[in-house]
Amino acid sequence: MLRTIENGKLRLEHVGENVELVGWVAKRRNLGSLIFIDLRDRTGIIQLIVKTDEISVPEVRNEYVIHVKGVVRKKDVANPLLKTGEVEVEVSELQVINKAETTPLIIADETDALEEVRLKYRYLDLRRPIMQKRLKTRAQIVQSTHEFLNEHDFIEVETPILTKSTPGGARDFLVPSRLHPGSYYALPQSPQIYKQLLMIGGFERYYQIARCFRDEDLRSDRQPDFTQIDIETAFLSQDEFLNISEQLIAKIFKDTVDVDVKLPFRRMTYAEAMDKYGSDKPDTRFDMFIEDIKYIFSSNQGDYYKNNTEIRAIVVSNIASATTRKKIDEASLIASRYGLKGVAVLKYLDDELSGSLLKTMSEEEIEALIKKFQLKNDDIVVIAAHNRYDRVVGALGALRLHYAKETNLIDKNTYDILWIVDFPLFELNENDELASRHHPFTLPKAKHLPLLESDPLQVNAEAFDLVINGQEAGGGSMRIYEQDLQRKIFEVLGMSEEEIRFKFGFFVDAFKYGTPPHGGIAFGLDRLTMILTGTNNIRDVIAFPKNIAGVSQMSGEPTPVDQVQLDDLYIKNTHKK
Ligand code: AMO
Repeated sequence: MLRTIENGKLRLEHVGENVELVGWVAKRRNLGSLIFIDLRDRTGIIQLIVKTDEISVPEVRNEYVIHVKGVVRKKDVANPLLKTGEVEVEVSELQVINKAETTPLIIADETDALEEVRLKYRYLDLRRPIMQKRLKTRAQIVQSTHEFLNEHDFIEVETPILTKSTPGGARDFLVPSRLHPGSYYALPQSPQIYKQLLMIGGFERYYQIARCFRDEDLRSDRQPDFTQIDIETAFLSQDEFLNISEQLIAKIFKDTVDVDVKLPFRRMTYAEAMDKYGSDKPDTRFDMFIEDIKYIFSSNQGDYYKNNTEIRAIVVSNIASATTRKKIDEASLIASRYGLKGVAVLKYLDDELSGSLLKTMSEEEIEALIKKFQLKNDDIVVIAAHNRYDRVVGALGALRLHYAKETNLIDKNTYDILWIVDFPLFELNENDELASRHHPFTLPKAKHLPLLESDPLQVNAEAFDLVINGQEAGGGSMRIYEQDLQRKIFEVLGMSEEEIRFKFGFFVDAFKYGTPPHGGIAFGLDRLTMILTGTNNIRDVIAFPKNIAGVSQMSGEPTPVDQVQLDDLYIKNTHKK
């Protein structure tokens, strides 16, 4: 046995004991007759003290793997920064198990290494205690999920990784078939169809920690392969289902960060979220609401007011005196990403409103604006105008987040959890065609069924997203279980009979044989871990992530393969360099 105890577990109660320890040298200070070594293992750091005139020591450097024998002593002066800070180990024997070259990054929580370097030498980055802590939290979330769902009679079922491509949603990753030239498997974007088939298959309560694959543009909260806590149930109402989901989330919060979340979670309709926050994943940790101000200008004949059917605004406090031309341009740039030309910014300083838009307003309108927002000294009013509601609220939603950061409005120590409900069933895609907002199996609200053909964009769905601190942590819905309704949805989406058969034939067939009412959700495991470890970078919570360009900086994939391998798959590389 190499060790008798792990380093981070040593306490005053062990004083006087002989111990054997192993680990990596985290730090070394040579004071001539004394050498102090910080020895790290996964549980923490213990300080070793080596008296060089009493024992002979081989050369040790940072990240060497060593084995020591010694006795635990009480320290004269405790180090309050370490859990083991009240004790140290006086070494009687030190042996080097393995040497290490100088590492390209400092192995400590505080590291100035670029992310590129951290990803290239990920195995060293993973040695940093903060990374170990994040992955431990991730493992705890999975553990709590297993515990809770098993206790509630859920059955874990694995579903295939090589699946059928069913276009819609994100782009598929395809896998060519060697045995069936010209045919392809797709990696699952989620186990959606399988979990519904498991309900038809009589399982009633299914879950899986499921790997999902989506070929989409990456962001700081998106990876091409990621993990879902995937759940489906039969014979539960939406309220019963949300209740179970809430209990799972509550257990995860308790087990990982020891926080008691308040149940039941708040519910906000999609319409309210868009109206007040300009986002379907509103960050509700701070109060700054979008307000409709169009009515103030109902009799203004100026072009700005006549041409824009939507005029809305937010107010930001304590920032007017710091609002320069450059800052206003920054805000306009954010708005331009939502299809606006820019925003108008008015400053309220010394009881007076200023800004170029004022020239186009009457005295009464200015008064009404001041009154509407009860403006205080150093406030600004940020105004967005356009004919499209989605653009105006979208831009103000993004600006709301921008200004919250600028003025430090967000309390990082709170968790704000809510359901967004009553999503629209459909949306218009970039070609202005009707498309499912979630997926075509989402149940429309019964009261909206008469609108399916006449006004589909007004139909809401029995769909719900879990939003935590402005992040979409999960999404799900109740599903269609009647064949006729499912067929109608496909029709409204403009799919022909052949198309339905080709894409979903087996699925539609399954519905003929007694489908129970069912519904489910998928939580983003990576996203939950981000929230619970307080990072906004998804790569921090995945052991071996891809970078923002979808590349593994450690092993280099995706990489070219030789033509022999491609020949086996009947693939010709048509890419020209
Ligand atoms: P949806 O597509 O909303 O629903 O995904 C569910 C949750 O998965 C997480 N997520 C991601 N996390 C990291 N990287 C990505 N690229 C990524 N994409 C999604 C989010 C999201 O809320 N089958 C349905 C669920 C259902 O209806 O039951 C689905 O996949 O946290």
